[in-house]
Amino acid sequence: MNPIDQLKQEHVVILRMGLDIERRLKSFREQDHVDTAYVDTAIDFIRTYADFCHHGKEEGILFRALEGKELEPPLARLMKDLVLEHDWARATTKRLAEANRAYAEGDTDQLALGLRLLHQIQSFYPGHITKEESRFFNPCLEYFSEHELTAMETEFAEFDRKVIHEKYRRLVETLSEE
Ligand SMILES: [Fe+2]
Ligand SMILES: [Fe+2]
Repeated sequence: MNPIDQLKQEHVVILRMGLDIERRLKSFREQDHVDTAYVDTAIDFIRTYADFCHHGKEEGILFRALEGKELEPPLARLMKDLVLEHDWARATTKRLAEANRAYAEGDTDQLALGLRLLHQIQSFYPGHITKEESRFFNPCLEYFSEHELTAMETEFAEFDRKVIHEKYRRLVETLSEE
């Protein structure tokens, strides 16, 4: 599969998760209570799938390949913006994980912050994805030959193969540090 089409398929999964988060957020607000196990699941999805697996391929493979090309300045600027947005999502997820942990340990003052951060992350993805799909991906394709796209497809598959191993290697590392 064309690497851009693969990224678009991943966007569909991320957007579906976003809809689920939106639905849960509504009930958390109504009940004035957060299901911290659900938020942990959402954080794991964002970290593993949206960030490590998806942003990982965008930044580590697609953007890296584009850095070797003479990009039109607006496209180069857009690529930098997208990286900054990924950084923002990473940092916000970290803050959400901290607030969720504190809330789970009984600090109810973290409820409002946790809800706000979860909402911020959930509402970030549609705009980010639209930006990539409407202004970035198609112009990118013009910089690559068929041969380069096929090579990128192989790189994507190799990257994906490593994700589960890396996820659990990191988990074991974190647990043994505690
Ligand atoms: Fe992205
Ligand atoms: Fe993306």
